[in-house]
Amino acid sequence: MAIERVGVVGCGLMGSGIAEVCARAGRDVVVREVDSGMIEAAELRIQKSIQRGVKSGKLSEEDAAATLGRIRFAKDYDELSDRELVVEAVVESPGEKVAVFASLDEVLASEDAILASNTSSIPIMKLAMATRRPHAVCGLHFFNPVPVLELVELVPSLLTSEETVSRAAEFVGEVLGKRVVYSKDRAGFIVNQLLIPYLLSAIRMVESGFATQEDIDTGMIKGCAHPMGPLALTDLIGLDTTLAVAESLYEEFKEPLYAPPPMLSRMVEAGLLGRKTGRGFYDYGG
Ligand SMILES: NC(=O)c1ccc[n+]([C@@H]2O[C@H](COP(=O)([O-])OP(=O)(O)OC[C@H]3O[C@@H](n4cnc5c(N)ncnc54)[C@H](O)[C@@H]3O)[C@@H](O)[C@H]2O)c1
Repeated sequence: MAIERVGVVGCGLMGSGIAEVCARAGRDVVVREVDSGMIEAAELRIQKSIQRGVKSGKLSEEDAAATLGRIRFAKDYDELSDRELVVEAVVESPGEKVAVFASLDEVLASEDAILASNTSSIPIMKLAMATRRPHAVCGLHFFNPVPVLELVELVPSLLTSEETVSRAAEFVGEVLGKRVVYSKDRAGFIVNQLLIPYLLSAIRMVESGFATQEDIDTGMIKGCAHPMGPLALTDLIGLDTTLAVAESLYEEFKEPLYAPPPMLSRMVEAGLLGRKTGRGFYDYGG
């Protein structure tokens, strides 16, 4: 069964990118978002990204208009009922995500519609058990910015069917043109189990006064050829998301390397979430 109709739940940084790449691949996309302000911001973000595609010659003006025309925003779950794949991309909170999965399970008409989560760290089994169709639930972990970064981690739970895995892999790999890697269902999957301890170590270095944030970032850019340093990357990901991912990892493994440093918690409490709020480790003038 081909996947022609896609749903996305949550339209922040990631949901808007996922909606965009699916629409660019010719799929009809319905996006459910609860916050009207976020819908406006997402529309703007998608338009800007598509215009960059036009400027770089990847998209014609006609393709750009058609892509935008394939994305529709909705406030009710009912509008997702005919979807063949829904990707959940709400905040990194187990409670919020479980509630979204239970609601999607109620409305999706087809028993085989795939319910995927873009979670960075929450075990997929926790989400699958909120539904009556755990065979059709998997993790599809995209990377930020979605239109630019090629990777998707595909995470089956113990109960995901082989058919779900192969349909999801075919969609992400062949329709969206992404590179798929497979991970077992453990908090953080492959990339965040490696990345988060690195980001937290950089924050601990700043917190202890060991080095300045500029020097830490410069060290990793100039010394290790990373495209950006760990503190600028934390600002890009969002400090709230980084904290939530660290908490999931710590809950799963109880290893000190995953424990969030107090500095990160305080900055999140202060609303210094990084680029999305205009200030994190750096000031973006927002
Ligand atoms: N930021 C990253 O770099 C990154 C990378 C990969 C994966 N992720 C994961 O993607 C998910 C979303 O992250 P983000 O960075 O886009 O967060 P974000 O804060 O930018 O966006 C989350 C959006 O979800 C919306 N939302 C919350 N509850 C909702 C509900 N019940 N229904 C519909 N919308 C709802 C919020 O209004 C918000 O617009 C998280 O699970 C995160 O871990 C993030």
